[in-house]
Amino acid sequence: MVKILKGDRIILGTCYYPEHWDKSLWKDDLFRMKKNGIEVIRIAEFAWNKIEPREGDFTFDFFDRFLELALEADMSVIFATPTATPPAWLSDQYPEVLNARMDGVLLRHGGRRHYNYNSPVYRRFTERIVEKTAQHYGPHPAVTGWQIDNELNCETSEFYSESDTTAFREFLKNKYGSLDALNEAWGTVFWNQTYTAWAEIHVPQTVLCNSANPHRTLDYIRFVSDSACGFAKLQSDIVRKYLKSGDFITTNGIFPNLDSHRMCDESLDFITYDSYPNMAYELDRNPGGAGREEQREDLGDREWSRNLARARSVSRAFGVMEQQSGPGGWTTRMESPAPQPGQMTLWTMQSIAHGADYVGYFRWRTCCMGTEIYWHGILDYSNRDTRRLAELGDIREKTGLISAAAGSRYRASFAVLTDYDNVWDAGLDVWHGRIHRESEAGIFRAAQILHSPMDYVYLRDPVQLKDLAEYPVLFYPHPVIATEERAALLAEYAAAGGTLVLGARAGMKDASGKCPMTKLPGVFRDLSGTDVTDYTLTGPGRPVTADWGGDEIEVPVFNDILEPLAGGAEVLASYTKGWYSGKAALIVNKYGKGSVYYFGGAFSRAAASVFLKKLNLAEPYRDTVDLPENCEIAVREKGNARFFFILNYSPEPAVITLKKELRDLYRGETVSGKAELPPFGTAVFES
Ligand code: GAL
Repeated sequence: MVKILKGDRIILGTCYYPEHWDKSLWKDDLFRMKKNGIEVIRIAEFAWNKIEPREGDFTFDFFDRFLELALEADMSVIFATPTATPPAWLSDQYPEVLNARMDGVLLRHGGRRHYNYNSPVYRRFTERIVEKTAQHYGPHPAVTGWQIDNELNCETSEFYSESDTTAFREFLKNKYGSLDALNEAWGTVFWNQTYTAWAEIHVPQTVLCNSANPHRTLDYIRFVSDSACGFAKLQSDIVRKYLKSGDFITTNGIFPNLDSHRMCDESLDFITYDSYPNMAYELDRNPGGAGREEQREDLGDREWSRNLARARSVSRAFGVMEQQSGPGGWTTRMESPAPQPGQMTLWTMQSIAHGADYVGYFRWRTCCMGTEIYWHGILDYSNRDTRRLAELGDIREKTGLISAAAGSRYRASFAVLTDYDNVWDAGLDVWHGRIHRESEAGIFRAAQILHSPMDYVYLRDPVQLKDLAEYPVLFYPHPVIATEERAALLAEYAAAGGTLVLGARAGMKDASGKCPMTKLPGVFRDLSGTDVTDYTLTGPGRPVTADWGGDEIEVPVFNDILEPLAGGAEVLASYTKGWYSGKAALIVNKYGKGSVYYFGGAFSRAAASVFLKKLNLAEPYRDTVDLPENCEIAVREKGNARFFFILNYSPEPAVITLKKELRDLYRGETVSGKAELPPFGTAVFES
């Protein structure tokens, strides 16, 4: 049986749905997959009925027969718990298991993920189906690991059932102990919201102007995350009892309102990500819509590297459970084009470049029924050999040739700090959201274009100085919510020699999301040596710039107007336009052996590019390789070996120049000088 993520080689897989096909196809499918380099399949995540067709009536024949064939074909199986789609008998007889919209309307059977995590009834049925499934199939020799549910918090990450309100009250009682403490934390004196009994508290409900108490909503999101983590743990505690030695537990995807890091720590051996890079082209269909502003600068399928960096931050070793292998679409939403020849390989290499040593394709064959008939797999409905199947042959060969890179670690030149409280608050607070989105996209895009590999580090309690000290530079763009503890950790980092870069609005809120009566940037004042004396949104059509030692830097979206505090703080850039022209826009403060920059704006791509250049983070591998803009570089390291992944996202060939002798792993020879990558081509060099 194949073991994935063991650091010995890169393994390919696919998602297969035995329940979608006549049994007579199974054997053929399995042997054909094997012949084409697929060694692992993921099954069963929507197949509750095949195990419990009626309440309490369990049957294992269906997957027993399938697993026997899998064994015969020497195919390893990731078995999923089937809780993402409760059966009709369950939804119908126990409507309390259903999730609801904010206005109370129940989300009915027929889609998926329509259950709520907190229904005691659903939890009971979940425990039972998971126990029966894991107990029966866990020992099977073809089973190599488990997936919990499917994409927790996908489709919706909001829950408004009655069970959620009941559980929310418990969550709050544990958190606050008393109503007085809760009223204080939520600032309920504002607009006469004071609670006098726990029963008065609900999950958010429909209110005018969508103006519900933001401190409550922030706690509600923490509660949703807590519920999802608890639901994953409920399942993994059961599955773990039946794991054979070496088998694993994972779940797929990274979705909103869910602390994936916590879930992974508590319940998983590693995270798997579902990567659909052509979803980027959804934006094209949305002129005037949400994507428009972003579209000016977005990097299309290359944007997916950002999501992969996030997956890597959850667990350094990770896999891709669903890798796009065809055009995508449901009958009701989403339309994305087919990968062009070469793109399936490019996207596979993108995943591997970012650290995934397992890549499973969604899906083996396109489904002939249901809402996902346009979400294509490697094969189309006809079952003929497709060009994508042929491309799989190429991928198989290439992944074989680069197996030395398996188990190596992505090496970033710098990191972006983030944390769940700020991510969630940015989703609720339009002022915060605007700077958050701008900087998140801007820093990533600047890093891509300037070929500077970056990591995300989520600040959480387990993060210590040693985790930060690996990076010479940390951007923490907008820690709007900040605590003394976090500030103290960052102070240690700077004191030890690190460079910390903060942006506008840092330190303006406490952990409840309220604004303490302190001078800004609050807990970062000493560290940054900065006083924020005034501030404003820049307003549309009013580009603001500053002069940084003769270079112009854009200071977009929001402007903090700065003054250096006495001590080692120095003004590096001043605004050049508007009523605060001449005032400081950027201050650097020497702190111990390091320095802290406070920038009064958001980090658009243009602004972030200036920072990367000034901080010597642009083109960190310029002595090794010269690359055009449309190529990404990713670097993985193992022992003394270093692997350079070069990915050409363009439909045109790309010329690169190797400035040193490197081993071209695809060609098995040492090369240097100019080389051409074909359209969507990739290369992996070892030094
Ligand atoms: C994923 C999901 C799959 C399939 C795919 C295409 O989000 O896990 O089950 O639905 O998208 O829509």
